[in-house]
Amino acid sequence: MLDHILTHEAAKVTCVDPFQGSAEHRRFDADYVQSLEARFDANIAKTGAAQKVQKQVGTSQEKLRSLPLNAYDLLYIDGSHIASDVLEDALLGWRLVKAGGLIIFDDYGFSFDQNTQHNPKAGIDAFLTIFRDKIKITHKSYQVFVEKLTDPA
Ligand SMILES: C[S@@+](CC[C@H](N)C(=O)[O-])C[C@H]1O[C@@H](n2cnc3c(N)ncnc32)[C@H](O)[C@@H]1O
Repeated sequence: MLDHILTHEAAKVTCVDPFQGSAEHRRFDADYVQSLEARFDANIAKTGAAQKVQKQVGTSQEKLRSLPLNAYDLLYIDGSHIASDVLEDALLGWRLVKAGGLIIFDDYGFSFDQNTQHNPKAGIDAFLTIFRDKIKITHKSYQVFVEKLTDPA
């Protein structure tokens, strides 16, 4: 994103992550979890655009509550994959995004667990249903892209 989208000199990105991994990482890969924050820092450094990045270490459930309202053009949701967490991210993020802005959900098509409540899809579908009159779905495949309507019904 820093290399190809946030190319304007005034562009900024806020990244929220506790760097503790998600449920599926903690089950399978302790080394991966240990290295998360260092790899994030190294990847950001490689872009040469670290000054555009505000790193917020903590859960989205906590951090999204303290970010400015109507301030973001894009909200990209790819943290915890538990359905209720994905729904909570969308709800907490809703007022942070400007009218006409974009919300992107990752992993709509991915099954991390046999229990559907442990996968993003149920949370994304709940958001799409409840916000049906306030959004326009512009892409629905492995990821889902949603535009926040300027003038919702
Ligand atoms: C699949 S990784 C994706 C990371 C990043 N979006 C990317 O594409 O590189 C999921 C990330 O979500 C983070 N995570 C897990 N639970 C979270 C939560 N409650 N709030 C914020 N981030 C969370 C994990 O630490 C992990 O880094």
